Amino acid sequence: MKRRTHMALASALLAGAAAGAAQAADPAAAQAIVASTCAACHGPDGNSPVPNFPRLAGLDAGYLLKQLEDFRAKRRASEIMAPMAENLSPDDMAGLAAYFAGQKPAAAAPREPALVEAGKKLYEDGNSNTGVPACYGCHGSDGAGSGRFPRLAAQHPDYLIDQLKRFATAQRKNDKRLMQAVAARMTEAEMLAVVEYLAAQP
Ligand code: HEC
Ligand code: HEC
Repeated sequence: MKRRTHMALASALLAGAAAGAAQAADPAAAQAIVASTCAACHGPDGNSPVPNFPRLAGLDAGYLLKQLEDFRAKRRASEIMAPMAENLSPDDMAGLAAYFAGQKPAAAAPREPALVEAGKKLYEDGNSNTGVPACYGCHGSDGAGSGRFPRLAAQHPDYLIDQLKRFATAQRKNDKRLMQAVAARMTEAEMLAVVEYLAAQP
């Protein structure tokens, strides 16, 4: 119900934008694109309800913009996101990045609470035997993220695992090799644990 109200509001805004009432980078224009396109997968406020579709709420605007540019330029491969990004102007992308960065991230919950402790240890200390660095060093305390190091807290575990595997196999390589080097050294068990820890963070 809430979502339908939001959609109705957004289509009213879209009509306004079409009438020339709004500039491309206007927040109203971004909200109209969210309602017509992005919300179906990422949720109207960026708190995607689907485990394979990442939550965007509260991620850094610079990080979000970089991902959209990378999808468009095929530096980050995604059959789903490439056509989405190709339809966006630079102003649209900036507006959408600002919109999702400004949304409040909803709390997530771990599915395997027994793994959270091991995940926290790996997140904070890394694994000196195999050379996995502490995630903390780049992604900040409790996965809060900052700037180019994305927020990981409360992100869907399935999405995070998928990305770690893509970095490990160099299917995702828009990270200047920082994450590829990290993920390639992680075991499957370490990946499972660290994402459960992250899902438990606010
Ligand atoms: C049909 C579903 C779908 C729609 C619609 C969609 N996305 Fe996505 N989005 C995805 C999937 C799936 C991924 C993960 C891509 C991957 O790496 O495989 C993703 C990833 C992203 C990311 C990267 C997030 C991160 O944490 O790195 C951003 C940013 C994003 N989408 C923005 C948008 C915007 C803005 C729109 C609307 C213009 C949109 N998406 C529409 C499915 C969708
Ligand atoms: C040397 C810095 C560094 C370290 C250490 C690091 N990361 Fe990252 N990570 C990055 C950067 C940079 C990106 C974003 C790359 C980009 O721009 O697409 C990233 C992205 C990610 C993503 C993708 C997020 C998304 O929304 O798509 C995941 C998952 C991730 N890191 C997990 C981890 C985990 C788990 C650890 C610890 C085992 C870790 N990282 C350690 C730098 C680091």
